[in-house]
Amino acid sequence: MDNTRDAVVSPLPLMQLSIGFWSFKALASAHELGLFACLSGTDGHTVDQLAELLGVDARPVELLVTACASVGLLERRDGRYVNSALAEEFLVPGKAFHFGGWVRMLDRRLYPAWGRLTEAVRTNRPTSWDPDKQAHLFDSEDPELLALFWEAMHALSTLTARELGAYVDLSDSTALLDIGGGSGAYDIELCRRYPSLRATVFDLPPVCEIASTKLVAAGLDDRIVVAPGDFLEYAELPTGHDVVLLSMIMHDWTPEQDLAILRKCFAALPSGGRIVISELLVNDEKTGPPAAALMSLNMLVETVGRNYTAAEYEQWLEVTGFVDVQTVSFEAPGANGAVLARKP
Ligand SMILES: C[S@@+](CC[C@H](N)C(=O)[O-])C[C@H]1O[C@@H](n2cnc3c(N)ncnc32)[C@H](O)[C@@H]1O
Repeated sequence: MDNTRDAVVSPLPLMQLSIGFWSFKALASAHELGLFACLSGTDGHTVDQLAELLGVDARPVELLVTACASVGLLERRDGRYVNSALAEEFLVPGKAFHFGGWVRMLDRRLYPAWGRLTEAVRTNRPTSWDPDKQAHLFDSEDPELLALFWEAMHALSTLTARELGAYVDLSDSTALLDIGGGSGAYDIELCRRYPSLRATVFDLPPVCEIASTKLVAAGLDDRIVVAPGDFLEYAELPTGHDVVLLSMIMHDWTPEQDLAILRKCFAALPSGGRIVISELLVNDEKTGPPAAALMSLNMLVETVGRNYTAAEYEQWLEVTGFVDVQTVSFEAPGANGAVLARKP
C-alpha cells in the first residue's frame, strides 16, 4: 500500500481559493439578471421557463442555476429550481433585509478595483478611485458612486445593526450621535429596537440627503435627524447626545486620524456618555478571521486605513481618556464585535 499520499498536503483548498471569484460572479450575475426575484414566491421554474422569463438562452440558464444551486443559493425540487431560504430572505429586491445593494457594489466597483490589487500592494495606494484627483474615497459627488456605495452600506449595515442592537444594550440611552452615519441604517434599526432612543446622523452633506430619504421611507424622521458636517475638518462634533457610534469609520483612516476623531467624540460626550465602535475586528495575532482580514485588505484598495484589532481600539480609547473599556463579540456581515467605553 502506498502511504506516501497520506503525508502529502492536499491541493484541494487551493482549488477552492482559486475559484472563489467564480462563486461571487455567479451570485452577482444571477442577482443582476433578476433570477432570485423571478423565483420568489413561486413553486419554482424549470430551466426552459427561466430562460423565457429572463429572456436568455436555456444553456447559460442551466449552467447558472446549477452553479447557484452548488453554492447554496438555489434548490431543486421535482425538476424545478426554487430559491434557497438564504436567497429568498436576502436576495429578493424589496425585502426588508435585501443584501443585493452590497453584492451590486462589489460587482461594479470593488471587483475591478481588486483586479488591480497587486498594484495597490506595490504602490500603497488605493485602486477604487484616483488618488491624484480625489483627496479620499468620500471626496466625490459622483451620483453613481453615491447611489451605489450607500445602497451597499445600507444593505450591509441594516443586518449588522440588528445584531449590534441585540448585543449592546442601549435601553438607558436617549440620544445617539452616529458619526459618519451614512444612510442611517444603524439609526433606523436601533431606534426600532429601542423606542425611547432618538438619533442624529452626522455625515457629509450629500450623504445626509441620502439618509433623509431613508429616514422618511422608514417613517422615523420624527426621531432621527441629520446633521451635515465633516469630522476631519470640524473642530467640534454636535453635543447633546449620551452615546456616540462609530460604525465602519475607524477602518477608513490612519491611527493618527482615528485618535483625532476619538478626541472629538470624547469632547462631544457628557460625563457618563458612552462610545461604541462597531467593526470587523482583526484578531490580536493578526491571522484572521477571514472577513475582518479581507475587509482590511479591502481598505488598501479603498482607503488609507485598515481593520484594527480590539486591543488597538482599547488602547486608543484609554489614551483618549475613556474608561470601562470592553469588547463584545457577535457575528454580523459588517461587524464581528463592538468596542465599548464610557467617559468618566
Ligand atoms: C464606510 S461608511 C460607514 C457608514 C455607516 N457608519 C455604516 O456603518 O453604515 C463611512 C462613512 O463615513 C462618512 N464620512 C467620510 N468622511 C467623512 C467626514 N470627513 N465627515 C463626516 N462623515 C464622513 C462617509 O460619507 C460614509 O457614510
